[in-house]
Formats: sequence, C-alpha cells, structure tokens
Amino acid sequence: MALFGALFLIKSQKSCMTTNTPNTTNKNLITWVQQMAGLCQPDSVHWCDGSEAENQSLCDLMVKSGTFTKLDEKKRPGSYLARSHPSDVARVEDRTFICAKTKEEVGSNNHWADPVAMKAELMGLFKGCMKGRTLYVIPFAMGPLESPICKIGIEITDSPYVVTNMRVMTRMGQAVMDKLGTDGKFIPCMHSVGAPLQPGQKDVAWPCEPDPKKKYICHFPDEPSIWSYGSGYGGNALLGKKCLALRIASTVAQREGWMAEHMLILGLTSPAGKKYYVAAAFPSACGKTNLAMMQPTLPGWKVTTLGDDIAWIRVGKDGRLWAMNPETGFFGVAPGTSAKSNPNALTACAKNTIFTNVVLTPDNDIWWEDMGVPAPAKGIDWEGNEWTPASGKKGAHPNSRFTAPASQCPVIDPDWQNPEGVPLSAILFGGRRPSTIPLVNEAFDWEHGVFMGSACGSETTAAALGAAGVLRRDPFAMLPFCGYNMADYFAHWLSFAKRTDRSKLPKVFFVNWFRRSAEGKFLWPGYGDNSRVLKWVCERVEGTGKAQTTAIGNVPAKDALDLSGLEMPAANLDELLKVDKEGWQKEIADVATNYAKFGDKLPKALSEQLEGLKKRLG
Ligand code: GTP
Ligand code: SPV
Ligand code: MN
Repeated sequence: MALFGALFLIKSQKSCMTTNTPNTTNKNLITWVQQMAGLCQPDSVHWCDGSEAENQSLCDLMVKSGTFTKLDEKKRPGSYLARSHPSDVARVEDRTFICAKTKEEVGSNNHWADPVAMKAELMGLFKGCMKGRTLYVIPFAMGPLESPICKIGIEITDSPYVVTNMRVMTRMGQAVMDKLGTDGKFIPCMHSVGAPLQPGQKDVAWPCEPDPKKKYICHFPDEPSIWSYGSGYGGNALLGKKCLALRIASTVAQREGWMAEHMLILGLTSPAGKKYYVAAAFPSACGKTNLAMMQPTLPGWKVTTLGDDIAWIRVGKDGRLWAMNPETGFFGVAPGTSAKSNPNALTACAKNTIFTNVVLTPDNDIWWEDMGVPAPAKGIDWEGNEWTPASGKKGAHPNSRFTAPASQCPVIDPDWQNPEGVPLSAILFGGRRPSTIPLVNEAFDWEHGVFMGSACGSETTAAALGAAGVLRRDPFAMLPFCGYNMADYFAHWLSFAKRTDRSKLPKVFFVNWFRRSAEGKFLWPGYGDNSRVLKWVCERVEGTGKAQTTAIGNVPAKDALDLSGLEMPAANLDELLKVDKEGWQKEIADVATNYAKFGDKLPKALSEQLEGLKKRLG
C-alpha cells in the first residue's frame, strides 16, 4: 500500500485528455484508476459498461486500426479475425512470476520474485506505457455473481482486443460494478501491451513488447493483485483466466478450504436417464474442450457442457464436492476442431466469435488445419502473408484460438450458471502419453487418486512457448497455474479426505487418449468414442463395472468396455489396457525425480503411495 501512496507523486504530470464518467461509486476503485492513469499516462480513460453498443464501437475501432478483420456477416455473423505479432502467440511460462514473501512458499514449481523489487521494476515499465492509447477499466466477475466464491476483478488494459475478449470470457460490465457497490473489494489486474506511442506515431495491428525478456506476468498473492506487461495474447492478457481464476484463486482456495483447478466440467446422462457430473484435468491442449462438449458415439448417452478449462470446487452442504465454472466463454484451440472431432465447438463459434491467428479465406471466412473442410485454394495465413495449401507451411498457428460465448454451445448444461455448481461423481486426470499409461485406470482410494494427480505427465504442446512434444511432469495439469508451493497443494488435495466423509468424495481415474502404436498411429479413436470410457467410469461409480485389480490400479476387465459398433483391432485393446511393467518402472523413477524437487515438504502419504506402487509392481 505504501507503494500506491508513492504513486501519487508520479500522478498528474499530465492529465488525461478525455474520460467518460466513472460508472462506480467505489472510492478505492476510483482512486486506484486515477493512480494508474497517472502512472501509465494514457491519452484517455474509458470505464467499460459491457454493453452491446460499447462492444460494437470497440470492434469498429479495431477494424479501422487494422487489429480486426470483419468476417462475412452471412457466414460468420458478428465475428472478427485478429492476427497477433509472431512473438506473441502463447503463454510465456518463463516470464510468469509469483511474488510472495518467500521463495519457499511458491516452490520450485514457480518462478519467484521478491515482491518489493518486482514492484519497483514494474513501476518503471508501466510509467508512461500507455502514452497515445486509451486506458480501459474492465469490471469483471469470475463465477456467477450470486455464488459464495464469486471473485470480482478490475482489469485495467490498453488493449481493446482484451476488452472484447474479456466480455466473452467473463461476466463483464455494469452488473459487476453494481455488485461492487461503494466499498466492495476487488482484485486489481494491471495489463499493458507495453507499446506506448510517440505523438504522431502510427500504431501497428498488434502492439506488444516483442522482446521475450521484457514480458512480465506477475502475481502478488498477498495483496492480491496481478501485473501483466508486454503481451496481448490469451492467458497472458485475459487476466481473469489463468492469472486470477487459477494462480491467485488457488492461493485463496488453499486458505479458504476449496480448490481452483485446470478442469473441464461435463454432465453425462445415461440411456436410463441418470445424470452424472465429471470434472477432468488435462494439461493445456490435451483435450479438455473436446471432452467437455463431446458427442458420444454410444447410443443413448448424452454429454452436456458446464465448462472447458477451469473448475472451482468446494464441499457442498451434502458433503459431496461441487464444481462450478467461473468463466462464460471458451478460448479454444482452433486447429483440429472439425465437424467430426468437435461439432459442438464449431457451432459455438459459428457467430459472435473472435478468431486469433487462423487463415482468412478469400470469401472472408476462416479456416484452419484439420477443420474437416477443404482448404481454400489460397488465403492469408496467421502471419498476414498470402498462403496456399501447397506452400508446405501451416496456415493457422498451432495455438490459434477461437473466443466464443459458452451460451452458444448447443449442448450447454442447464445448470452451467448455477451458483452452487454441480456435484461430482468422478474426477479424471490425463495427459498426452504415447506409451505406458493405459487408456483408463481407477484409483483404489482418495490418496491413490491424489497420487495419480501428482504423477501426471504429458508431452508439451503449443499452448506455451518452448519446445512441443517433450515429456514433462505436470501434476494435476496445474504446473503452470498453481500459485503456491506444489507440495502444499498436494497436501491440500489430501486434506479433503478429512474435510468430508470420504465415501462422498468422487472416484478418481487416470485416462490417456493418446497412446500410439510402434508406427506412431493413435491406438484409440478418441473424441466421441471416449464416451465408452465415460460409460465404464459411471459403471464403476455405480459399483457395477467389471475391473481387474492390477499393481497400478483398477483397469477395465477384458470385456468391460462397451466397444459395440467400434472397429478396432483386438490387439489395440490389449495394448491399451496392459500394465507395461518396464514402462512403469521408468515412470516410477521419473515421478521419484520430480518428487525429490519438493524435498521434505512432500506429504508422506505420497511417498508411501510411490513406495506401494513400486512394491506391487515387484
Ligand atoms: P487448453 O485450452 O489449452 O487448456 O486445451 P484443451 O485441454 O481444452 O485441449 P483441446 O480440447 O482444445 O484439444 C487440443 C488438441 O488435442 C486438439 O488438436 C485436439 O484435436 C486434440 N484432441 C482432443 N481430444 C482428443 C482425443 O480424444 N484424441 C486425440 N487423438 N486427440 C485429441
Ligand atoms: C491453456 O494454455 O491452458 C489455455 C490457453 O487454456 S490460455 O488462456 O492462453 O492460457
Ligand atoms: Mn487451459
């Protein structure tokens, strides 16, 4: 707070040219915005109300500036294409910092920075960083406003692209200001693309700080606050998502006794009409959006979507775990989304959608690799260059995305905005594993389930900058998102066996859709056929599904998976369900190496689980 005081001195060197009337009576908010405007020195300040008219004028502004291309109104009503700078295409994990008091509390899973030193550095970066631009004030809520764990954030940004995306991804606008009232609390979220304009300087379509070493995604869990500088892309810039709803929320959740997780939430209705809710944690670009809105190939089964990326979970009055999606939109991976793989996602982004880094077709529509429709004879690729399918280059960036309202998903669950959330029957963990890890494996009990989550590993993907396809440990799919020491996070997960009657806890499973043959082909068809695995999960919940107990967990008995109508060589199934002893021994060694990073902070229950597995394997 002392730092905010000091800011008054920097303030009013130059007053802003224009500002609309603040749409709030919240004194702390008005003061903070004044201070930040004084620091960043924008040309004007705009208080967002989230209205349709405001959104349209921002879209028009971006069409004029070249940030947005308006797509064909008949083919893609209300939709736009943006192309980012080639240096700004994904999350920047090595520039993501947790600025807590001590290094120990953030753990080796995070980059720690001293809060005072980092604040000083940020002050230097943010000083004058919005020159020539408008400062937008975005009031947003994560979670339904009536939810007991709803969190209000205020994002200050100089990117109109961010404003329009936040309007899709969060509950954004006047209702949030109204809920905040005169003295409600909010989480301050500062964002700048880090590209001030000199007088008369022409803007570019995607302003950002191109030097990767000058991008900063900082979290101050003790305040709490978020400061993001230099990037305009996805989780780096839409601060409600990974920064607030995962990194900051995970620290709050640990204190308050709930969980903030990188999980989809789906509803599954059996042919008999019984409904189950399932949450699943897979690392970035490992299948959450696809599973969340999957069309089951098994007749009579129905999937409904509650969320595709984040779940906030707490113990309900009935002692069960209840999950809620704090977001209102999908920031989904575009490549690979087709009528075959994910028809519901295609419908969700048929209108009112922002596309980033995909191909622009000659008829002003969009295209990406594996969209399931023929590529246009020519188009404009994500870098803005003329492109043809014969060019040998990808037209869409592998981490190109669509930003689409959840309400447009044809299978959105009627309870997706229920402030209480929905009660979970099962939790799945998973990852991209070409070998060793079977198609599905049920944990013996809660502790074994927590062990499975902690041992999660996956090949890396294009969702973060850096090499893709390298195996890394990504416990609970939270490695880039857990805002505190992962060993304490493991302990928090274990504690739920004491927070409620353990018989009420969801059953835990580990799944792997990504097993490959020696020739490199997927052994499992995936997508809608994953319903076959979900059916077995429900049967296990009911106590009817047949399983064989193995050293690693309960895997489906030989004939337990419903494979009706599926043409798959019998050998594939054997491979998918077998316990590969040698592979598991390597796996154990790798998990042990990862565990060693946590030193004596690692909960004993987990080292015991690892020992137990080793013994059982023999
Ligand atoms: P984030 O938004 O980054 O958190 O990703 P996500 O977990 O939602 O991943 P998404 O569902 O977008 O899938 C990413 C990639 O995995 C896409 O290219 C999909 O086509 C592919 N994928 C998803 N499900 C399956 C599956 O069951 N089998 C196979 N082989 N690929 C899949
Ligand atoms: C992820 O990387 O897990 C995403 C995309 O969901 S982003 O919002 O950019 O983090
Ligand atoms: Mn994600």
